[in-house]
Amino acid sequence: MSRREVELLEHRSHLRTQLEEVAIGLTQTDQKTLPCKWFYDELGSQLFDRICTLDAYYPTRTEHRILEDSAEAMARMCGPECAIIEYGAGSVVKVRFLLDALEEPVAVVPIDISGSHVAAAAAELAADYPAIEVLPVCADYTRHVPLPPMRREARRKVAFFPGSTIGNFHRDAAIEFLSRIAQTVGEHGALIIGVDRKKDAAILELAYNDPEGITAEFNRNLLRHLNRELGTDFDLDRFTHRAVYSEARGRIEMHLESESDQTVMVGETPVELTSGETIRTECSYKYSSSEFRVLAREAGFRCRAEWTDEDRLFGVYLLEVA
Ligand code: AVI
Repeated sequence: MSRREVELLEHRSHLRTQLEEVAIGLTQTDQKTLPCKWFYDELGSQLFDRICTLDAYYPTRTEHRILEDSAEAMARMCGPECAIIEYGAGSVVKVRFLLDALEEPVAVVPIDISGSHVAAAAAELAADYPAIEVLPVCADYTRHVPLPPMRREARRKVAFFPGSTIGNFHRDAAIEFLSRIAQTVGEHGALIIGVDRKKDAAILELAYNDPEGITAEFNRNLLRHLNRELGTDFDLDRFTHRAVYSEARGRIEMHLESESDQTVMVGETPVELTSGETIRTECSYKYSSSEFRVLAREAGFRCRAEWTDEDRLFGVYLLEVA
């Protein structure tokens, strides 16, 4: 069998698994769900970039300010000759605060599921930081990702996971993911991570119900992406965006509410939705400082330092492998 045939077979079985995963989520009896990874096609990524600039969506600019103000202190704690491993190379901007502040960083390893994204990010970094080895990796970072060999040995490996993306993992998955990072950075390794904090529900709900309607568009675009990639037949006009904060669960939940009784085809599976029924598309957990420290400890880290903004909206933690 030629190499090309093998690749095509792999691709088809991958799509079948994706379709099964979607069908399973949509046939749950208590709450229908869809995986939030389907937000990020090209349009979805552009919409997310717009969300990050909205007045209502405070996390991005708040984290930015914290990194800008505190990168030197973080760099001092990390020490010289570090390798930075960035999980999700979406933001080449944020890692620059660290690279600029660190003493003689030896390498930066941006990891992202999108090959084109990570290659573009790596090219920009390589052009601007010629003294630092840039080693892009295209991989699903929620699984184990072996690090590429580095020309110079780093004194310390420091993972970087900004953006409060950890909030999009359920608790057990968050612990599993952080434990894997602890293994990857090894003894003396560290992790700098941005985490959105618990706060007034009104502030949270506004952040996910922006008046411009960009988050609503981002949410509905998930259906467009599924229609295109998996051949489902969602009618986007028959779904309304909803985002609510569950105090009990400590998370924002994004849903798509069916505006009428309808049937959607997911492969061979007909999915019935009643009017007013919702599909949950995303959970975004919020952590108080003490809750996050407990979670980090369960994953094998101890908290060395935490920085926050004056309104205590967002936290950036420097964790060390315990
Ligand atoms: C990527 N992630 C941290 C965002 C969040 O806030 O949970 C995704 C998002 N969903 C709606 N707005 C932003």
